Amino acid sequence: MLSSLLTVAAYAGSAIALNNGVGKLLKMGFDTFNAFVCDYDEVKVLVQAEAMVKYGLVAAGYNSIILDDCFTLKNRSVDGKLVEDPAKWPNGLKHFTTAINKMGISASAYSDAGYNTCAGYPGSYGYEAQDLETWTEWGFDYLKYDNCFIPFDNVTQENIYGRYERMANAIAAHARKTHSQPMWLSLCEWGWQQPWIWGKRLGHSWRINGDIKPWWSSLASIIDQASFQYWSSDFYGHNDMDMLEVGNTGQGNPIGNLTYEEAKSHFTAWALLKSPLIIGTDLSNATKETIEILGNQDLIKINQDPNIGEAISPFRWGINPDYVSNSTHPAQYWSGNSSYGIVFMVLNTEDKSADMFFNLTESWAIRAGHLYSVYDMWSHTNNGSALRNISLTLPPHGAAALLLNDAGPEPNADTLNLPYCAGYWQCSFPNGTYYSN
Ligand code: GLA
Repeated sequence: MLSSLLTVAAYAGSAIALNNGVGKLLKMGFDTFNAFVCDYDEVKVLVQAEAMVKYGLVAAGYNSIILDDCFTLKNRSVDGKLVEDPAKWPNGLKHFTTAINKMGISASAYSDAGYNTCAGYPGSYGYEAQDLETWTEWGFDYLKYDNCFIPFDNVTQENIYGRYERMANAIAAHARKTHSQPMWLSLCEWGWQQPWIWGKRLGHSWRINGDIKPWWSSLASIIDQASFQYWSSDFYGHNDMDMLEVGNTGQGNPIGNLTYEEAKSHFTAWALLKSPLIIGTDLSNATKETIEILGNQDLIKINQDPNIGEAISPFRWGINPDYVSNSTHPAQYWSGNSSYGIVFMVLNTEDKSADMFFNLTESWAIRAGHLYSVYDMWSHTNNGSALRNISLTLPPHGAAALLLNDAGPEPNADTLNLPYCAGYWQCSFPNGTYYSN
């Protein structure tokens, strides 16, 4: 009886983020999978590392490389140890991780909470502690942990939470034993079982969707999903919207299958929704546009805000008259707070250009009766000040990213012939008579 009570208590605890000293801010880096699947080796990944340095991406904050699926052999050694693939790492993995460390880049590993990884390499179920030792020995400090090939229920007698908890416990135990910083844990269970509720107890980020594809409909459906889960991201725990498909996806187009405007919208949404910024494209011959987008310092600094961890949130959902969204037309009007001002993202989810309009006070973060200076985080220019509202025209699938700062009380409403209040439906005169616009 006592033990079942204790179990209930453990599961019913409030979802406090895993503040174990790592992962307060979002991870930024490059991941091998979407660019190369399993077709990579030391030479190819070092080319990526060099490109990250050359194009200023390391300086911009992209300081890790995740070796995703397929970096070991398909079989463990007789003593159960993971074996590095000598064809991929002729000088050994430790040599590779040391080489990228010297370039200012840390190394991240990938494994799985089941028997195998999604591509059929050894998973870590039952080998959690041993694998952790091995990755540490090889020089990894971060783990992306997937959810394929899970054992039968009568074997695990656990749910997804429990299988991820095995690794989280192993990480905590290893850090205690070795007096070292705990490994950073990124959960990859694709949003199956509401990881936005429990993911933060065990790890630092959790995927909220299946694998991203480099086309607009995929981005739109991920943004739609995020419009319901934005509240879960904060310091030490983040919704992971999957990799950035800005750039050469190996599918023939220099900005992937995305238009330039779509690629900008993609980066805007991922940065401001506080997703990890993990590049999933081949950087070896990156175009100027790719680097401009991935390197947008105005957006990166909000993504990496050391004082405010929360994401932007929608203040209108969808484009339908009832504001209900769907996966092709996610929320278009979003705002939030940052150390640098109030952030707005306006997204045109239509396939044609559209006139967009919002009242400033639709955002919770705005002070009524004040003017706001407007800074455009894509043109990097100050665009005067906004009085009451903002109108803009956006290209198909385009986005605006604006930073507003309080510029003092607005001029006298009578002189400007303005309504006495922007949200007039609840305003009243001192005598209690409702004001109607
Ligand atoms: C899953 C993950 C991907 C990638 C692959 C590797 O599909 O969601 O991000 O890690 O596995 O096989």
